[in-house]
Amino acid sequence: MLPRLPWPLPAVLVWALCWLVYRLGERMGLAPAPALLLAALTGLLLSLAATRWWRRIIVAAGFPVAVFVSGAAIVPGWAWLVLLLAALLVYPVKAWRDAPLFPTPADALAGLPARVRLPPDAAVLDAGCGLGHGLRALRAAYPQARLHGIEWSWPLRIACALRCPWAQVRHGDIWQRPWRPYVLVYLFQRPESMPRAVAKASAEMVPGSWLVSLEFEARDMHPDHRLDLPDGRPVWIYRLPLRPRGADTAASAPPP
Ligand SMILES: C[S@@+](CC[C@H](N)C(=O)[O-])C[C@H]1O[C@@H](n2cnc3c(N)ncnc32)[C@H](O)[C@@H]1O
Repeated sequence: MLPRLPWPLPAVLVWALCWLVYRLGERMGLAPAPALLLAALTGLLLSLAATRWWRRIIVAAGFPVAVFVSGAAIVPGWAWLVLLLAALLVYPVKAWRDAPLFPTPADALAGLPARVRLPPDAAVLDAGCGLGHGLRALRAAYPQARLHGIEWSWPLRIACALRCPWAQVRHGDIWQRPWRPYVLVYLFQRPESMPRAVAKASAEMVPGSWLVSLEFEARDMHPDHRLDLPDGRPVWIYRLPLRPRGADTAASAPPP
């Protein structure tokens, strides 16, 4: 895996691979533009394995920028446009406004079943499932649950479905799709997304169901539990109906 190699070795290896793909494409008789596209797409897809946004940019952009700056190939404008569209498909602007792709650590939800007991076939949603790391962590916590994922980026949705064949992974907007069918909705989005998540959960999720957020807190709501990951990040756990902070928590506390 790319992230396990010391930085910037992964980037150098991906760039070298891109050049190899490019040269092989040429040898096989491809014109410079398709050869460049093939090589740059290789780099773009491999950039998904990097864990930080700036590393993704470096990994994905290194090869096309080197071709552009060095003038190693005369590439027509349409090829750069296709490359830009491919990059927007992999990292769509809409999804980045909500949350860029950062994965849930494998054991992040190990403490969840002790706080949140679910029936064996409970429907659980990872809203914005990316490459499926959150789904895998949910599966480790709740092996019997029916796991669902929604993802806006098509390539991520396809990659996630391949990585998590036991889950139902669909393309879609987490804010448009209903949350009512789920006993637990798991989010790893952004601080700015939380008020919207609170409003949607309150409007749609049934009493007794759960909203779980890695790292980002629903600031105005009273959490039922909090887990702390070894890296210090919290997992916030809320039971529906959500209880505003400062409300009489004793009176509105959920039944045991
Ligand atoms: C921080 S990543 C988390 C990925 C995964 N849930 C995990 O924990 O490993 C956030 C993901 O949400 C997706 N996303 C952001 N906004 C979205 C939206 N409105 N609808 C669907 N997916 C969205 C992004 O494309 C990205 O893959």
